[in-house]
Amino acid sequence: MTLLEWKDEYLLGMNELDFEHRDLFDCVNEIYEQCSHKADFETVAVCLGRLHARLAAHFALEENTMREMKNPHYAGHKAEHDRFLDEVTGIVADFKEDFTYEDVDNFAHLVQAWIVGHITTYDRQLVEHGH
Ligand SMILES: [Fe+2]
Ligand SMILES: [Fe+2]
Repeated sequence: MTLLEWKDEYLLGMNELDFEHRDLFDCVNEIYEQCSHKADFETVAVCLGRLHARLAAHFALEENTMREMKNPHYAGHKAEHDRFLDEVTGIVADFKEDFTYEDVDNFAHLVQAWIVGHITTYDRQLVEHGH
């Protein structure tokens, strides 16, 4: 079962960013699936680490793109990336062998809600202000 379903309405028309957004969806779905299969600690930890690394890399690319475009919303957009990355960093760092699947499931839902909300608002502003 898929938690996060890709829709073309999420496309920005900026290939690298769109590719990474889809990749983030895959990472979240993988965490959700491993959780529903009751995967072991190591497997879930690898998935969480992957999502964290891809999020950090994606934010860096997107912020670089915004600077190049001289996007007027840069500061607020970057602050939102930083805030969410801090939250994810804390959750991933606290992930221990005594974890519960409910916690992982909640985390997957948290990231799902954030990604959809973020792409359709903050990231959408990248296209509204031209490439
Ligand atoms: Fe963003
Ligand atoms: Fe993005």
